[in-house]
Amino acid sequence: MATAAHDRISPTALVALYFRAMAGLPYARELAEASGAEAAFKRIVGDKVDRVRWMAPLLKAREMATDVLLARWDCPNIVEFATGLSQRPFTWTEDPRLHYFATDLPNALDDNKRIIESLGLARPNLVWQALNVVSEGDFAALDLILPPGWIAWVCDGLIPYLTLEEQERMGSLIRARQKKRGGVWITADLTSRQRLRAFQKIDPDLRDIMQSIAGLTGRDFEANVPETIDEMEARYSKIGFSNIIRHEVGELVTLSSLETDEPEKLEAMLKNMNIWEIS
Ligand SMILES: C[S@@+](CC[C@H](N)C(=O)[O-])C[C@H]1O[C@@H](n2cnc3c(N)ncnc32)[C@H](O)[C@@H]1O
Repeated sequence: MATAAHDRISPTALVALYFRAMAGLPYARELAEASGAEAAFKRIVGDKVDRVRWMAPLLKAREMATDVLLARWDCPNIVEFATGLSQRPFTWTEDPRLHYFATDLPNALDDNKRIIESLGLARPNLVWQALNVVSEGDFAALDLILPPGWIAWVCDGLIPYLTLEEQERMGSLIRARQKKRGGVWITADLTSRQRLRAFQKIDPDLRDIMQSIAGLTGRDFEANVPETIDEMEARYSKIGFSNIIRHEVGELVTLSSLETDEPEKLEAMLKNMNIWEIS
């Protein structure tokens, strides 16, 4: 399946990585240095680098909330979509019993694998597998290599880049596997136009950053998400998921574990951030 249209989204992984390096997450600094994430970050945020620094703990909060839910499910297999250069594959494969399948578009995956190998971060229980989330064939290829046992599917920073049709396709492909294999899909990626407006009100710089991302990727978040979170959840029920559990990120992660110079802004953002267990 051709991936050129989606390949334009791949550089945004370096923006997420640079934020994580600023937040001091494990492995993030070395991955950021090896991948030239700072330059990619500056291309998108322009002269606002210092002004957007306060957002780094938000990415940390999403990471921590995802890890809390992953630990609760304790699945023997984790499949991450659109992995980019997330540190999660490395932290989770410190447990040698776990099988981790880090996936992304083929071009992004090749670039990222080269970086990971150059840093000596390869692991026997960590498999890098090319997977376009809208490709039935890529999911079928993954089916063949997944070991027995429940699967935790994870993605962070992907869904708002996908059109409605692509989101439905991805959801259906996951649902079909969950029915056979059991497990859960954990994501903080569901959002709405109401939420995007709330974020921009908390920090007006976000409007410019979102526009810059739209220019780079050709994807418009506002066009890809519905007006409300309830409508977003209803879309996933319609696909066939029967258990859609919404958590507050701020309930899973304490504010005191996030170092910040802007506690009020951070708290306001966290009030608008959820994470879901979908099955
Ligand atoms: C904002 S980045 C997020 C990366 C990573 N999850 C993180 O949090 O650092 C978006 C990612 O989506 C990937 N991507 C875009 N379209 C995709 C698709 N159709 N299938 C799989 N991955 C895709 C890109 O290659 C990129 O790695």
